[in-house]
Formats: sequence, C-alpha cells, structure tokens
Amino acid sequence: MKIAIPKERRPHEARVAVSPETVKKLIGLGAEVVIEKGAGSGAAFTDQSYKDAGATIAASAKATLSGAEVILKVQRPQIGGKNSEAAGLAAGVHLICIMDPLRAKDDVAALAELGVTAFAMDMVPRITRAQAMDVLSSQANLAGYKAVLDAAEHYGRAMPMMMTAAGKILPARTLVMGAGVAGLQAIATARRLGAIVSATDVRPAAKEQVESLGASFVAVEDEEFKQAETAGGYAKEMSETYKAKQAELTALSIAKQDIVITTALIPGRPAPLLISAEMVESMKPGSVIVDLAVENGGNCALSKLGKVVTSKNGVKIVGHANVPSRLATESSSLYARNILNFLQLLIDAESKALAIDWEDDIVKGTLICRDGAVVHPALAEMHAPAPEAESPKPQEPGSGGGDEAGPAEAIPDAPSEEGA
Ligand code: NAI
Repeated sequence: MKIAIPKERRPHEARVAVSPETVKKLIGLGAEVVIEKGAGSGAAFTDQSYKDAGATIAASAKATLSGAEVILKVQRPQIGGKNSEAAGLAAGVHLICIMDPLRAKDDVAALAELGVTAFAMDMVPRITRAQAMDVLSSQANLAGYKAVLDAAEHYGRAMPMMMTAAGKILPARTLVMGAGVAGLQAIATARRLGAIVSATDVRPAAKEQVESLGASFVAVEDEEFKQAETAGGYAKEMSETYKAKQAELTALSIAKQDIVITTALIPGRPAPLLISAEMVESMKPGSVIVDLAVENGGNCALSKLGKVVTSKNGVKIVGHANVPSRLATESSSLYARNILNFLQLLIDAESKALAIDWEDDIVKGTLICRDGAVVHPALAEMHAPAPEAESPKPQEPGSGGGDEAGPAEAIPDAPSEEGA
C-alpha cells in the first residue's frame, strides 16, 4: 500500500500532512511512504528527517502520486486552472484532507467525477471515539494561541500589570468573542500574558468554561440564548432581535477593550458580524482586533483577509489567512497525528491493507465521495441532479409553485456521545 504525500500548493499553506514521527508509524502499519521533495520544509521537517524515518523522497508531484493507493494532504487539491492538481488523482485513489465541503461544491463534484474516494478530516464527527482525529480542534487550539501572540505583537504595549518604582502599568483588557476551542485557548493564553479577560458566546455551556479559565462571561442570557446550542454542540444562527441585543451589549463593552479576539463561527454559514465599523470607531487608538473568522467572511466589518488594516482612529484589525499554518511545525505535527489515528481505523493491522468498514460512524461522517458520486448526507441536496427541464407540471391556480428547495442545510448534528 503506497501512501503519497505531495507538497501543499495553495497560498498561505506551510503545513504538511505527515511528520517524521507519523511516517515511522505508517511504515509500521505496512505502508510504503513516498513524500514529495521539500513537502515538509514549511514546517521545518527536512527531507532527511523523513528519509531517516523510512520514507522515500520523490522529485516531483507526479512521481509522488504515481501508483498511490492513499494520498494525504492538508488542503483539498486545486482542480482546474493553471495550478490544477487533478492530474495526480487517479480513479479509486483514497484522498484524505481538510475539504470544507459545504463551501467547495464545485471541487467536491469534480473529485466525484474523477472517481476519487475522498474523506474530509474537517467532517470527523465530534464523538468521544473520534477526538484524537479531530482536526478542527487541533488546529483551532493553535489558532487561538497564535491570535493572542499576533495581538500582542500589534498592540505595541505591555499586557500584564507591572508595579515599578516609576509607577504602575495597567493590564491590557482583552475581550474574546466566541468561546469554542480557539476562543478558550485565546482566553488561557491572554490570561498567561497577564491580561484582564472577558469573553462572550451564544451557547450557555460556554459560560462555565470561560469562568473556569478565570475570565468573566458577558452575554445576552435570554430565552433564545438558553436554546442556542444544537445537539451537536454548535451554535445556531441567532435571530435579528438577539443580534440587536448582542450588538448593544458589545457596543457598551468594546470601547473599554485594548485587545479583541474574535472566533465566532456557525458551521456551513458565513461568520456572524459582531463588530461594526462604528464599534471600531469607539475604541482607543492603538487597540487591536484579531479576526480569526476572516476566512469565513469575518466577525469585524473592517477586517480584510490576509491584511493588517488600521482604522481612521488608529485601531489595528488583523486578518491573517490560515492562522494554524503560522505555527506550521506544531499544527502539522498535530494534524499528522489526527490523520494517523484516522488511518488506523481504515487499515487492517494483520493484513496491512486497507479494510474500510463503510458502516462505521466515523467513516460515514467523513466520506464525501465514492464510486463517482457525492455520498455524504449533508451534501446530498446540494449535489442532487437538477430536475429535468421538460414538461413542467401545470400549477394549481394560486399555488405559486412554491416548493423550491432551500439552500443546503448546515452540518447536521454529530451523532450524540457514544456510551452516554
Ligand atoms: P466553532 O468554531 O463552530 O465556533 C466558535 C465559537 O463561536 C463557538 O463557541 C460558537 O458558539 C461561537 N459563536 C457562534 N456564533 C456566535 C455569536 N453570534 N456570538 C458569539 N459567539 C458565537 O466551534 P468550535 O470551537 O469548533 O466548538 C463547538 C463546540 O464543539 C464547543 O461546544 C466545543 O466544546 C465542542 N467540541 C466538542 C468536541 C468533542 O469531541 N466532543 C471536540 C471539540 C469541540
């Protein structure tokens, strides 16, 4: 069984899907591991370190992918255009990567057409058994940490309180908006640097987690808030009324903040807009906003993907792309272990060959396309064949023909915790 690891080719991507440590383990599982020259350089893994672990280094993507049974990548391959990676994707090959399939309709359709069996690591169900494969958590955790370091760099002032002979330095006030995996790590990191931290979220469960990290919880805790968490643990999109109340509360507290880290996301939807241009205007010059949701549209009206912008009143808004990749050694090491744990589920230890249980919950939750079709239930409606154009049904007078399918639904709830 040949496992191929090509170099990542998308902009802002320094990560790699295997580390020397996981290469050794993959070889122990019976695989032949072939890595494209320089694939690990962004993460400080040299070709020599991979060779020492037992991998073969190939000079080109073509040589890496030729005859592979499994391809491991960080991001989904680019299909079409001058950087297309489609040529290396043979029918029947097993591709494992982060896919963002709810937003990448065309690429998913193209992968199905190529006959690729594709698994999306970002769709691993959030059940106990799959925790060690959860790339959203491993990467968001590092992003939350790095967001605070990026804020500290652009803040240009001290974060902790200092008592000196020349007087007292006040601690930085930091607000974290969205207290999921990234937000909780941001709270912990800002606290370690000495900031006074508050945080907000729409899920009631976040309150206790925020407070257990020594931060104060600030949120509109009305009836809607009590119902805001889905069975899968994610946030729902809030009503316009709730959004207005939340904006009022944010407007009150944001002017007092030195640093704001935003991480709020709703699966399958654009990120909620939490900080308006007027709110930025109310902040002190020299304050910093780091928008971790910028790739999903942003939580701040002024953030720009891949840019650090300064508002008219001197507030810096940091919108780095691909924040986990800014800590590429750690994010690659953790991603590589997530992938290894996932592969252990697909490989039979005795025969040392792929033996996939297609009925397994984790396999079903991650499998995007197989045998030429898009098979994931959350994508079925989005990829359903268009209804035949001929002979439209005569409409009942006054019916308005109103049975249009709505937009594809967001990620369905993960199966509930096993063994509960
Ligand atoms: P996420 O990345 O989808 O969203 C980040 C945070 O933004 C969430 O806490 C969400 O509630 C919040 N948010 C959404 N809309 C907001 C708004 N309008 N205002 C303020 N905050 C808003 O979420 P993430 O970090 O992936 O975690 C989601 C949940 O999954 C959490 O409860 C987490 O503890 C849980 N989880 C469970 C795991 C398991 O294996 N059981 C593993 C990892 C996370």
